[in-house]
Amino acid sequence: MARELLKFITCGSVDDGKSTLIGHMLYDAKLLFTDQEQSLKLDSMVGSADGDIDYSLLLDGLMAEREQGITIDVAYRYFSTEKRSFIVADTPGHEEYTRNMAVGASFAQLAILLIDATKGVVVQTKRHLRICALMGIRHYIFAVNKMDLVDYDEKRFLEIQEQINAEIEGMDYDLALAIPVSATKGDNVNKASDNTPWYKGDALLAVLEDVKIDQNTSKDGFLMSVQRVCRPNRTFRGFEGEIALGSVHVGDEVSSLPSGEKAKVSGILMTDKEVQEASAGNAVTVSLDREIDVSRGCVLAKDTKVEIGREFLAEMLWMDEGKLVRGRNYYLKLATQTLPAVISDIRYRIDVNSGEQLPADEIEKNELAVCEVSVGEKVLFAPFSKIKEMGSFILIDRVTNATAACGVVLKAERNKRNLSWQQVDIDRQMREESLGQKARTIWFTGLSGSGKSAIGNALEKRLHSMGMHTMLLDGDNVRMGLNRDLSFSEADRAENIRRIAEVAHLLNEAGIIVITTFISPLRVDRHNAQRILGDSYSEVYVNTPLAVCEERDVKGLYKRARAGEIEFFTGINSPYEVPKHADVTVETVSTGIEENVDIIMEKLKL
Ligand code: ADX
Repeated sequence: MARELLKFITCGSVDDGKSTLIGHMLYDAKLLFTDQEQSLKLDSMVGSADGDIDYSLLLDGLMAEREQGITIDVAYRYFSTEKRSFIVADTPGHEEYTRNMAVGASFAQLAILLIDATKGVVVQTKRHLRICALMGIRHYIFAVNKMDLVDYDEKRFLEIQEQINAEIEGMDYDLALAIPVSATKGDNVNKASDNTPWYKGDALLAVLEDVKIDQNTSKDGFLMSVQRVCRPNRTFRGFEGEIALGSVHVGDEVSSLPSGEKAKVSGILMTDKEVQEASAGNAVTVSLDREIDVSRGCVLAKDTKVEIGREFLAEMLWMDEGKLVRGRNYYLKLATQTLPAVISDIRYRIDVNSGEQLPADEIEKNELAVCEVSVGEKVLFAPFSKIKEMGSFILIDRVTNATAACGVVLKAERNKRNLSWQQVDIDRQMREESLGQKARTIWFTGLSGSGKSAIGNALEKRLHSMGMHTMLLDGDNVRMGLNRDLSFSEADRAENIRRIAEVAHLLNEAGIIVITTFISPLRVDRHNAQRILGDSYSEVYVNTPLAVCEERDVKGLYKRARAGEIEFFTGINSPYEVPKHADVTVETVSTGIEENVDIIMEKLKL
């Protein structure tokens, strides 16, 4: 019988001794890496060390070799004992640690949290614990390390045990066990130590070998996300995927979601062999007894509680350098689905230290928050507590393609505003025809005082004189009306731009040519505007150097900003990100206003 597999992660701050602990465990137990060659190297490296062996070096050395040339942030190590096979995710302790840890935790069934006995539970421990809990880990071992440095003092251990108890109180878990260890000396790592006669429990390795993990492979129900539809010939149509939950038998009636159509399973292929039944973890090709609507991203299901909707509440770990603010756009990746989504509301931030729920407009890197996610199309999901596979997701930045967040679904939000899009009979094209023009939005961006308003104004005059129907939306003016409630914080600027893009969109729908002149300093917000406006959007960058804007200082604002009187002033104490792909770039130092209008008219074929 195959040995049962345990997937675990080690969490700790840089000097807590993560690598030393695992290194010592592997060495003492003479556990071979599945890779024979590596294990030989392991022996030779140890042989050459004099005196005390530095177990962490042992491991780091191997890691470096393994990773040569490739940058992987999470290293997975495999090893086996008589009783069990293990995969441990080791995450380097550098500054991207939280992000890597979250990735590692999402795969693990158990977490070893290292606590330095000289320091006790620290903020980092709390953060790691919360992230592990977020990612659905229910088994925790608190390795209270460096017991040798506190003279194997039972009182100190009990103090730390108390601190741990305070942290796990109210949490949902199956195991939370503290073990006094010394990663360097080996106490209670692989065998019970004589130095801690007061500790009656098992050594770490024994706990890892014996811990029972409920695999959550419920025998009821069946769920599979369709990764590929294959049709090798006219008669066969199969749906490929990995069974996420339960099992399926030939003859079972399954539904295709979201359509809800039903059909019976007529065949199951597992690595090209016909089988009668398959279960969670198997990669299969399922065929059905009749043609129903199934495509990539659909789910085949039987007796499960998968939900279909556009909005859900989620707890997320924010991992992006940039802040999370309401209204920005991302790609949501959930099971096999990838869909555009926005964070429509930040409900609260979770203080990692106290667990308190705090009101927040913005979420910074490494913070945890509960947010409402709105998806562009109907998405299949389930609360993480019910179906792990359908309840965890990542958000991907649409510009950089980086993972901005990972999170879990808490519950569905029922279209709480009860809205549905109404079809209308007169459309944009008809309105454009009656005005005799093609609507579009010319989006100016540049520093305050760069000349956006002046050029935008001249451009509108030109278009107007040509008989075009136009509308100019200008920063200061809109901020005095529609957006009078918004400040210049990053979150409010994002909302400023979002509203203007929506207004421009409405005007475009009415057939009007729109000119907008807002600083719009951040790429991500301009990108959002572009998404709202689609092909109608053209970007004009007014490239006037900061020194020139400051010299002009038409409104006297730069002077005040320099004097520290204005918060978040673009260019001074708030960033401006130069466009990378503007449709037109103009400069105002040696080129006059009318000349710039000519350039824009020509480039944009107005
Ligand atoms: S944006 O950044 O949100 O796009 P917007 O174009 O609406 O800014 O408004 C910019 C105008 O507001 C500036 O031209 C200036 O007159 C005024 N203003 C007041 N405070 C600030 C500030 N902190 N930063 C930039 N502009 C400011």
